[in-house]
Amino acid sequence: MSSGTDPFLRATQHAHEASAFGAFPRVRPRRLRRTAAIRQLVRETHLHAGQFILPLFVRNGKGLRSPIGSMPGVSQTSIDEMLRDAEAAAKAGIGGVLLFGIPDEKDATGSSGWHEHGPVQEAVRAIKREYPELLVITDVCMCEYTDHGHCGVLTKHGEVDNDATLELLSREALSHAEAGADIVAPSDMMDGRIAHMRDTLDASGFEQTPIMSYAVKYASAFYGPFREAAESTPTFGDRRSYQMDPANILEGIKEARLDLAEGADILMVKPAGAYLDVIQAVKRDTGVPLCAYQVSGEFAMIRAAAERGWIDGERAMMESLLSITRAGADMVITYFATEAAAVLNRQQ
Ligand code: PBG
Repeated sequence: MSSGTDPFLRATQHAHEASAFGAFPRVRPRRLRRTAAIRQLVRETHLHAGQFILPLFVRNGKGLRSPIGSMPGVSQTSIDEMLRDAEAAAKAGIGGVLLFGIPDEKDATGSSGWHEHGPVQEAVRAIKREYPELLVITDVCMCEYTDHGHCGVLTKHGEVDNDATLELLSREALSHAEAGADIVAPSDMMDGRIAHMRDTLDASGFEQTPIMSYAVKYASAFYGPFREAAESTPTFGDRRSYQMDPANILEGIKEARLDLAEGADILMVKPAGAYLDVIQAVKRDTGVPLCAYQVSGEFAMIRAAAERGWIDGERAMMESLLSITRAGADMVITYFATEAAAVLNRQQ
């Protein structure tokens, strides 16, 4: 990209030219840092509650709230309890919730994933009944529903079968749309799933339901605590044959472009904090609405250090979200969503 068309490069170019003309003591950057009022005036990045999305883990039952050990403050809940979290989130003005389901039964094909009365489908209906204004996104994947914990069905050799999985993912996404989901978000990393899902949704009258694609999703150690929360740890092997190699960024741009061509409306980079360069690259390359997922391990690290008094938890939370936004994310999925929104609401 030439600096002529890229506003960020043009700005940095100007900055370099300016420094050739001026220097200390006439130039003093500290003048713009002296007071809170001046710092606010020249601030380049602003957070708002409406950009945060809160993940929720739902299961069947009543009055259930099981805390997740490695994610202090986050729980698996039944739908009645989930509605309390949804209400608090809605009151704080956050942008939406992202639902994950923990089914009662798992099998080789993850068939409970598209059950009309599964936990996600029922949770969508409950939120839409109680808080119709609250945006509901559903995570579409097989790993919570398969007994082997992989994100698709297996071949007889134990590999994840890409093409056979597409139909199942589409069925799951359709059942979420039928329940009333505002957006479906596939997180499986199968090739061609966006096109398949788009066609399936369109054929059933859901051509207006957007797809938020986990387009650039890495095989990351930072998902550790989530697998406890979602009970989705693979029983053998790992996810490296479908999730991306953390070493790659050009491949991420390829994934992003492919998903756009297949009809994705919003792209996602995941994890966020250790992949700020990827967020920036995908945003600059595509220019489309971009989401970043501050994953369970990122959350757990900040929480754990704060609990020990090693860092200021609230400041670290806000700084991490600011940095993800500064890198180029328009929205952030974060377990801090309601808390961070409360901080912003207090500051207003
Ligand atoms: C399901 C899925 C995962 C996460 C979101 N969707 C786990 C994984 O891929 O292993 C991780 C979220 C987190 O760590 O907070 N495929």
